[in-house]
Amino acid sequence: MLRNKKIILGVCGGIAAYKAVELLRLLTKAGAEVHVIMTRAAEEFIAPLTFQTLSSNPVHTGLFDLIAEMEIGHISLADRADLFIVAPATANVIGKIAAGIADDMLTTTVMATKAPVLFAPAMNVNMYSNPIYKDNEQKLRRLGYLFESPVSGTLACGWEGEGKLAAPEAIFEGAVAALAEKDLAGLTVMITAGPTREEIDPVRYISNHSSGKMGYALARAARSRGAQVILVSGPTALSEPEGVTLIRVTSAIEMQSEVMAHVAACDVVIKAAAVADYRPLIRNSTKIKKNAHSVTIELVKNPDILAGLGAMDYRLKPRPFLVGFAAETDALAENAAKKLNEKKLDMIVANDVTQSDAGFNVDTNRALLFFRDGSSSDCGLMSKDKLAGTILDHVVARLVK
Ligand code: PMT
Repeated sequence: MLRNKKIILGVCGGIAAYKAVELLRLLTKAGAEVHVIMTRAAEEFIAPLTFQTLSSNPVHTGLFDLIAEMEIGHISLADRADLFIVAPATANVIGKIAAGIADDMLTTTVMATKAPVLFAPAMNVNMYSNPIYKDNEQKLRRLGYLFESPVSGTLACGWEGEGKLAAPEAIFEGAVAALAEKDLAGLTVMITAGPTREEIDPVRYISNHSSGKMGYALARAARSRGAQVILVSGPTALSEPEGVTLIRVTSAIEMQSEVMAHVAACDVVIKAAAVADYRPLIRNSTKIKKNAHSVTIELVKNPDILAGLGAMDYRLKPRPFLVGFAAETDALAENAAKKLNEKKLDMIVANDVTQSDAGFNVDTNRALLFFRDGSSSDCGLMSKDKLAGTILDHVVARLVK
């Protein structure tokens, strides 16, 4: 996605400036050609030579720097850029750009570019919650500027709260999203992710090993491609993906109710969640005491949410493109094909969850894709991010037919 893309990385003055080095490394590793612009304040925190060495390009600092062939530096850079990232972006620089002030190399180049601009703000928690800053951010968002929001944590100033620069990996994902082809623009995609928890009593529950990684990768990929994304997620430790509507649920019944509440608005539904098939018939209102040698818990079947979607009467609204997952430990192809037919799906992603590099709670997956028309595709071993992109490629190809 980033190979041979020309990216300007604007670095402002803040303690998080050192993290821009890691971002630069990720961008160059992905094949991007990166040109760094530093503000004067940034130079107080990190030497331009670091960026120059890692980008293999001269670092721009002064507005009146001229580059090869007597081009005007800021205009030349602005014109050539595919993407402009400002990380860390200070309240000062965001405020200046929102007000149309261009008084240094960085702000001038941002104002002069027609490329998408992605800000990754970092600042003190009180500055971040200041209504003046919020107004500036909202104004820029309305104008189409992109933001990778800061996260919560201990800030350099000693305060706790929101304002910490997003992880370089998250900003990198934001860059990929900004440059992705928007082939899902105008479509609403619902994705379910993570496990469900079925409570036995106030302290215990039945669940499974799903981390939500596969579903969240799909949500990020769909959002990058321009979709409105509704992510219905069971409990996970993952951070909220930027730009998606996240609906948190705990049990299968809650997941079913949210899926049903939103399905009418959806063009595509992808069910990557590992929904618990059974729940305790009775949820004890108090903690079950350990007096007895053994305890018997009667389980009842949960509704099959996906089968419910497949069986729905769609005479009054268009049927969404339905994608299921099949987590199998044996007879992968046969079981997946059976689920595809029984649940009336358009496509199913079968993964063998006995493999150490596939299925639950790892960053990679191995999937076989089966389609309603009888065709199939073997994706082999790949990252969950890559698999998410591949699944969406197949969805897009079949949606436009
Ligand atoms: O979250 P990760 O750690 O990244 O792991 C990813 C994953 C292994 C959870 C994912 O790749 C996966 O396989 N998800 C589906 C898990 C599962 O429940 O498979 P299943 O074969 O039991 O269910 C088949 C399909 O029916 C699934 O799309 C499931 O969401 C859906 N289902 C199942 C039961 C139920 N009561 N309602 C459902 O909608």
